[in-house]
Amino acid sequence: MMPDRRNRPVRVAVVGAGHVGATFAYALMFSGLASEIVLVDANRARAEGEAMDLNHTEPFTRATRVWAGDYSDCAESAVVVLAAGAGQKPGETRLDLAKRNAEIFAEIVPQIARYAPETILLVTTNPVDVLTSLALRLSGFRAQRVIGSGTVLDTARFRHLLGRHFHVDTHSVHAFIAGEHGDSEVPLWSLANVAGVPLDQFGSLLGVHWDESVKREIFTQTRDAAYHIIERKGATHFAVAAGILRIVEAVLRDQHTVLSVGSQVEDFYGISGVSFSLPTLLSRAGIERQLRLNLAEDEVAGLRRSEEILRDIMDGLPSQRAA
Ligand SMILES: NC(=O)c1ccc[n+]([C@@H]2O[C@H](COP(=O)([O-])OP(=O)(O)OC[C@H]3O[C@@H](n4cnc5c(N)ncnc54)[C@H](O)[C@@H]3O)[C@@H](O)[C@H]2O)c1
Repeated sequence: MMPDRRNRPVRVAVVGAGHVGATFAYALMFSGLASEIVLVDANRARAEGEAMDLNHTEPFTRATRVWAGDYSDCAESAVVVLAAGAGQKPGETRLDLAKRNAEIFAEIVPQIARYAPETILLVTTNPVDVLTSLALRLSGFRAQRVIGSGTVLDTARFRHLLGRHFHVDTHSVHAFIAGEHGDSEVPLWSLANVAGVPLDQFGSLLGVHWDESVKREIFTQTRDAAYHIIERKGATHFAVAAGILRIVEAVLRDQHTVLSVGSQVEDFYGISGVSFSLPTLLSRAGIERQLRLNLAEDEVAGLRRSEEILRDIMDGLPSQRAA
């Protein structure tokens, strides 16, 4: 008899149990969103060690079954988070990194698609936008079911810095970073507000200094944050893991949340055929819809620059065929 899928516990698979994957799994344990977490890693011992350590949090977190598994354990997963592969090494170009991690994706994505043909893929490995496109191609999934963590992290950094500048809770700051997760990312200043009030007016209202130099400084700190953190501690993982959890929550709980996730862009201000971030509605189906917002001219120009950069990297990759 076929198992009744409505009775299945919620399973989330994490492929790549390194800094990012393991920190996300840890956060997921506290959230109670999943009943099962499977960790898959080329380094089996690492996945086993993380699973053992995570299991010992159970008396303090939510009852969750965690184990180190194989690709076959991704079967029936609601979401598979891809965090496998290395980060950029000093002196390495983004194209070199993309080649290295594209090889890893060519190995793992077809396996996931084989065992979990109905899952939602959530890509976090860098360069995340290029690998989101590649995961789409290699899985053969509909674009709706392939999400990139995109600029969710950059948007969090941006909101944190804006909140600190205006001395208001980050949750009251509505502002997005769009485009590439990387050097060409685009601050959507034209949409940024606190409590519905545009930032220049909010500055006057509160008597807080606000001009082009402050904007430049806040954006520079947002864009370059990863370099400063990696210089000091070698990796970034807490904030990205929290961002991944927020995406997974929006999906599993069908929240229709707007987040700046990455997904395949078609025909937005003439931009097509790349994945990058736009404010996007997320639901249980995955990408419910990208919001086609009216943007300022310089913002559109910025997105075109992201498109060019991403296309150049994708053109430099050896062709990866769908499985
Ligand atoms: N998108 C974002 O906002 C963001 C933020 C931080 C880090 N990242 C990226 O996330 C990725 C992971 O970073 P990390 O710090 O966790 O790295 P890490 O080195 O700590 O972990 C990577 C893990 O991937 C595993 N792995 C490598 N090849 C594999 C394969 N073929 N199959 C299965 N597992 C494999 C490794 O064994 C390792 O455990 C990097 O690409 C990094 O740049 C993205």
